Amino acid sequence: MRRKLAAGNWKMNGTNASLTELQTLIATHPAPQIDILICPPATLIVQAAGLSADSPLQIGAQDCHSAASGAHTGDLSAPMLADAGATAVLLGHSERRQGHNESNGLVADKVSAAHAARLIAILCLGESLAQREAAQTLDVIADQLRQSLPDTATATNTVIAYEPIWAIGTGLTPSTAQIAEVHAFLRAQLGDRFGRDAAMGFRLLYGGSVKPGNAADIFAIANVDGALVGGASLTAHDFSPIITALENAV
Ligand code: PGA
Repeated sequence: MRRKLAAGNWKMNGTNASLTELQTLIATHPAPQIDILICPPATLIVQAAGLSADSPLQIGAQDCHSAASGAHTGDLSAPMLADAGATAVLLGHSERRQGHNESNGLVADKVSAAHAARLIAILCLGESLAQREAAQTLDVIADQLRQSLPDTATATNTVIAYEPIWAIGTGLTPSTAQIAEVHAFLRAQLGDRFGRDAAMGFRLLYGGSVKPGNAADIFAIANVDGALVGGASLTAHDFSPIITALENAV
């Protein structure tokens, strides 16, 4: 069985004061039946990993460089993030693809770097509103999956997050049928590439305006193994009910 995953992406939010949210999460969910991951800004990884060391809460990063070290001012490598205490890294988020011109090829190199550093790569993909309206969603997702997922991917070292760009931070969410269609398509694509049995092990997250109020409905959809949550992961008050909804969906 796939172990469900509630992942939070703090994006460029959070200071030392925000670590109390993690303490509240740990205290509220001492023995969760699912995996819980928070990806704070890199400045907080060491402290976050330290305070969650004896708890089930995992800490992740939001990006990494494709190289292990070198002359790349301002960048952080996958081995550095692992050394800081991260166990996972978000890669290919649409805010990186758009804001930093990240291509599928670069994202694939970053996923490979994450795998080499024994980090779980959470590969994000999803269509724009224009692509959805032009009925290109499945083509876009097939291309992103093929081109940004390297052959080193396994169900253990990789999680796929479907995040329609138009649903991120907008309060809009796709219909149940739209999420179900894409997640079934992702499962089938993984099956074509890695074989059906291996494909059944990959965890597929939905992301984009997941909130306490819509989480249970989203988690009831076939092939949705959890969520990647932005805004609603910033406080334990909002993220905790999402964790509980996912536990109840198990
Ligand atoms: P959101 O962000 O939950 O704030 O829409 C999701 C994401 O970008 O991962």
